[in-house]
Amino acid sequence: MARELGRGWIRAGHSVTLGSRRPSEISHDIAEIRGLRVADFASAISGAEVVVIATPYPAVVPFVEEYREMLLGTVLVDISNPFDNLPSNELAGAEYTARALGTANGLVAAFKDNFAATVNAAYPADSDRGDVKIAGDDEAAKAVVAALARDLGHRPLDCGPLHNARLLDGMVTLMLDLDRRHADFTMETGWRFVGLTNG
Ligand SMILES: NC(=O)c1ccc[n+]([C@@H]2O[C@H](COP(=O)([O-])OP(=O)(O)OC[C@H]3O[C@@H](n4cnc5c(N)ncnc54)[C@H](OP(=O)(O)O)[C@@H]3O)[C@@H](O)[C@H]2O)c1
Repeated sequence: MARELGRGWIRAGHSVTLGSRRPSEISHDIAEIRGLRVADFASAISGAEVVVIATPYPAVVPFVEEYREMLLGTVLVDISNPFDNLPSNELAGAEYTARALGTANGLVAAFKDNFAATVNAAYPADSDRGDVKIAGDDEAAKAVVAALARDLGHRPLDCGPLHNARLLDGMVTLMLDLDRRHADFTMETGWRFVGLTNG
């Protein structure tokens, strides 16, 4: 996901640094994406306006706890999917992220159900793309993430407060099951909310 989001945002003119625990080892993996830098986590976060956490879910809270001071004041995007780590869906994974951060200010849950293969995929029409669903309690931060979704050619869909991210977490589990049943597990499928009066 980090590579595909980075690829799309570089193309849209943003400056992107991919954070890694082993930056020297992955540089060759991203060499094809001109302009995408790679650095250790602290260097990648330093000076960033927006930080996207694109690690497996169990690594998210430890990451936020370790870099909390640096993350405060950024727009922090949690794209992680908890799956069986949170089977009851009473709280969203992103709400645990907010607890680790000590605030929901700046925090946005997004891109959870946008398969990596669909982030930059070509479609016959923009309306064929899945929405980027966005949940959060900070309207200004959500507006930043909505603009970043548009930069990728996707329609942002405001799904309300951060607590609603628990519903998105559940949708991802269903989406994987549907993809397996109906699309040979290509992970090229997605959700789009239809019937909106404003398109
Ligand atoms: N794949 C999708 O289609 C998709 C779609 C939407 C959302 N998501 C969510 O986005 C997140 C990333 O998905 P992905 O498929 O890109 O994951 P991934 O390839 O499995 O992992 C992404 C990177 O996280 C780093 N990482 C792994 N374990 C870590 C740890 N314990 N601590 C810190 N960093 C660690 C690794 O980078 P380094 O080794 O370079 O540090 C790894 O390459 C997940 O939470 C996933 O649920 C995925």
